[in-house]
Amino acid sequence: MAGETLCERLGGHDGIQAVVDDLYDRLLADDELGPFFAGADMEKPRRTQTDLLCEAAGGPETYDAEPVREAHLHVPFEPEHIRTAVELLYESLAAFDVPEEDAAAVVGAVAEYEQELLASPNDDDR
Ligand code: HEM
Repeated sequence: MAGETLCERLGGHDGIQAVVDDLYDRLLADDELGPFFAGADMEKPRRTQTDLLCEAAGGPETYDAEPVREAHLHVPFEPEHIRTAVELLYESLAAFDVPEEDAAAVVGAVAEYEQELLASPNDDDR
């Protein structure tokens, strides 16, 4: 396994795509989070989220969509929604038998976006 990134150990792009598909099923079915996705075209986020998670897990995939913060400016969620989303990500990783240590690494990498997502719109210079 020497030299393998976490992304590769999780099955590369295809492996992570399966986790993301499972995650979106959970997000859409969630009473609190589901409504935020009503009317959104989920095809692009399913693809770009996979790239984001692969990149967060060491690549080689890279995220090339708009900055995560910009992608959510029109999504009025609260800090607890991020916690719920992260819990659902944990559930998806567990459903694919991802070892606890690897799951924690993925969740940790995603959680790094939390500050960025919670910054007030007034923090923008634009
Ligand atoms: C750390 C937490 C999160 C990360 C890293 C994240 C990441 C992303 C990414 C990468 C996209 C796709 C952007 C694009 O393709 O342009 C996306 C889209 C989206 N996210 Fe998140 N997200 C997070 C939390 C949340 C939460 C808590 C909600 C709502 C409850 C949410 C709602 C949405 C919606 C509705 C879209 C689709 C936006 C649209 O195209 O209309 N996200 N997210």
